Amino acid sequence: MKIAFFSTQSYDKSFFEDHNRDFDFAIDFFEVPLTEQTVNLAAGAQAVCVFVNDRVNAVVLEKLAAQGVAIVALRCAGFNNVDLAAAARHSLPVVRVPAYSPHAVAEHAVAMMLTLNRKTHKAYNRIREQNFSLAGLLGFDLFGKTVAVVGTGNIGQVFCRIMLGFGCRVLAYDVAEQDALKQAGVIYMPLDALLPQADVLSLHCPLNEHTKYLINDKTLARMKPGAMLINTSRGGLIDTRSVIQALKSGHLGALGVDVYEQEESLFFRDLSDHIVTDDMIMRLMSFPNVLITAHQGFFTQEALTQIAQVTLGNLKAFTEGKPLTNAVRPNK
Ligand code: NAI
Repeated sequence: MKIAFFSTQSYDKSFFEDHNRDFDFAIDFFEVPLTEQTVNLAAGAQAVCVFVNDRVNAVVLEKLAAQGVAIVALRCAGFNNVDLAAAARHSLPVVRVPAYSPHAVAEHAVAMMLTLNRKTHKAYNRIREQNFSLAGLLGFDLFGKTVAVVGTGNIGQVFCRIMLGFGCRVLAYDVAEQDALKQAGVIYMPLDALLPQADVLSLHCPLNEHTKYLINDKTLARMKPGAMLINTSRGGLIDTRSVIQALKSGHLGALGVDVYEQEESLFFRDLSDHIVTDDMIMRLMSFPNVLITAHQGFFTQEALTQIAQVTLGNLKAFTEGKPLTNAVRPNK
């Protein structure tokens, strides 16, 4: 089987080439994303392999099907960039990697929290300039603080347990509560009750119609003054305009984001020679108490290994006519 692989980064190529030794597929790596303009690159391939910001819309799917592509393999968990109804119309199965190292994302959320609190990013730069002063680096003990989590699925659960290990009081809000977490000491409560208590709030729920702009003027006003907000989930959970206002007024104490609502036109590329026209991310970057990373929560060796193995395994199952256990369907 020939696979047209879009949005290739150097690390994708090395992990997939390595794991493909066990599968022996022919893979054409393209750096460009899959769009209406690049879809013809898939001519002659039976599969396309895509990532979070590839545009797998109805037009692209129609062209893929006409060119003889028989399956779409997502090398990520989310599938909001795929028109599943259109894929079904063209009888194109869509497979994904439903879970890969929840530890990778949970640990990144912790890293953001610790960096913002203890300002190790500033200390690193200071020391390089022989500035050994501690002024401005004051943090707080996490031990005994209240950390709140929205969404206690695969990633949220791991995050809760790490925070319990720090000696924090851990509060959670989720539409489905986990008994094992309650036994471990996590206290579930409604969002409204949790917001005023949290010293740190970390978001681990999916983006959907119920969670879009979960963090807005109203919920920010409910938060404890000076609290820290961490988002490693999806940019759309936060109304960026509201967060900028809360940072300007000093009500929000610190913000760490690995995701951004308009990240599609920014993340995963080097724009250091370009003029960035997105004024909101530039404003966010200007705050000394804001830390932005470019969707790197998943980026560990273990997660990339799982992504490569599961994606190639999904395609192998397809070539062998076996059930596609990781298929996504329109109603899912
Ligand atoms: P999951 O599906 O295991 O857990 C999500 C949890 O959110 C579930 O417990 C669910 O009941 C809860 N939830 C759903 N709707 C809710 C609502 N309205 N209010 C409160 N809770 C709600 O997902 P997982 O694997 O833990 O991933 C969480 C999110 O992390 C994903 O949706 C994805 O957006 C993000 N993610 C980010 C990555 C990164 O690199 N930064 C990598 C992988 C995932």
